Amino acid sequence: MSEAAYHPGLEGVIAGETAISTIAGGSGLRYRGYAIEDLAREASFEEVAYLLLHGSLPTAAALQDFCQRLAAAAPLQDEIINFMRSVPRDTSIMDFLRTAASALAHFDAEADDTSGEAQVRKAERLMAQFPTVLAAQHRLQQGHEPIEPDPQKSFAANLLWMLRGEQPSPQLERCMDVSLTLYAEHEFNASTFTGRVITSTLSDLHSSIAGAIGALKGPLHGGANERVMEVLEEVGTVENAESWIRTALAEKRRIMGFGHRVYKEGDPRARFLKPLCQELSVETGHEAIEAMAEVIERIVVEEKGLPPNLDWPSARLYHYMGLDVSIYTPLFVVSRVTGWASHVIEQMDNNRLIRPRSRYVGPDPQPWVPVTARR
Ligand SMILES: CC(C)(COP(=O)(O)OP(=O)(O)OC[C@H]1O[C@@H](n2cnc3c(N)ncnc32)[C@H](O)[C@@H]1OP(=O)(O)O)[C@@H](O)C(=O)NCCC(=O)NCCS
Repeated sequence: MSEAAYHPGLEGVIAGETAISTIAGGSGLRYRGYAIEDLAREASFEEVAYLLLHGSLPTAAALQDFCQRLAAAAPLQDEIINFMRSVPRDTSIMDFLRTAASALAHFDAEADDTSGEAQVRKAERLMAQFPTVLAAQHRLQQGHEPIEPDPQKSFAANLLWMLRGEQPSPQLERCMDVSLTLYAEHEFNASTFTGRVITSTLSDLHSSIAGAIGALKGPLHGGANERVMEVLEEVGTVENAESWIRTALAEKRRIMGFGHRVYKEGDPRARFLKPLCQELSVETGHEAIEAMAEVIERIVVEEKGLPPNLDWPSARLYHYMGLDVSIYTPLFVVSRVTGWASHVIEQMDNNRLIRPRSRYVGPDPQPWVPVTARR
């Protein structure tokens, strides 16, 4: 391999082929050919998940069957709930989801079946189970009992129901649904690539998903949406926003929710979510946070030329929805498991072991020194 082929962070490197999504021209995002704006506006998250996992939009009958399968798979085994009760109460939900991805494999009769049909069935089950795990763990942490999934509700409404035990308003249901759609898939990002690397060794789906969750957790990836809320809390008021952000930039602080490896002209998902966020801020009395965010956004764009990414509006959206910061990144998992699983299936269908090379920068050849002669 020539030196010229080395790109730190694999920036700009085409590391594989996919038919699942594309960041068209570095500015738009399409899932299997459909613009995310159309999907977020018109489709339910269930339709989007079906599109990703099965390759095409469902017919009405196929969608109904899909929703029934999800509802049937959503309740958790008692062993998993008991296990949740046994972990330290302050275990982060993100860490527990990673553990759950692994633990759920022990109760899945097809765990080691890597045929295409079994992979899809397992992916559907995981997609159905993660919201129940997230909500149950959150409630246990708050000192409440878990709430059973409601098979009559949509995916988004059921998630909100299990978190709070109240029927969500149509508006909150829609906000959750849209955010799940926008987070569902994003070609060769770090967590998806992690999942594909694991699959490329012919390992099983649950292992790939557990690895992907570990990669998503980091603050440069999925963990950013929780850090965005910390920033907004630190800034505190609209009056403080300008001086805070100018100081932070002068100190070369990394502002969570800004910048992207691929979208240099702006993240289309953030653009789509911003008006929804503004609308909800008015209805929930959070205009002051919106105004503060606007000042920060304007100055980061002006000074650094860095547009916001999806995490910038989505953290605010979740806050206005009354959701606890500790579940922001776990919500990303609940959505992205659909994208990850689609990539696992695609990788397995046309596999080649992913095994790049490295450029050696270590010591020159050394003579062997016996332990007794070492200083
Ligand atoms: C996402 C991210 C890792 C992509 O970064 P990247 O393509 O590797 O870009 P780099 O880290 O090389 O940054 C390039 C320049 O922009 C700056 N920069 C990038 N993101 C920045 C941010 N969020 N705040 C401040 N400066 C930032 C870097 O400091 C660097 O400046 P320099 O050239 O003066 O040193 C980066 O933008 C980031 O850390 N964002 C914050 C975390 C985040 O929101 N993640 C969610 C992504 S969806």
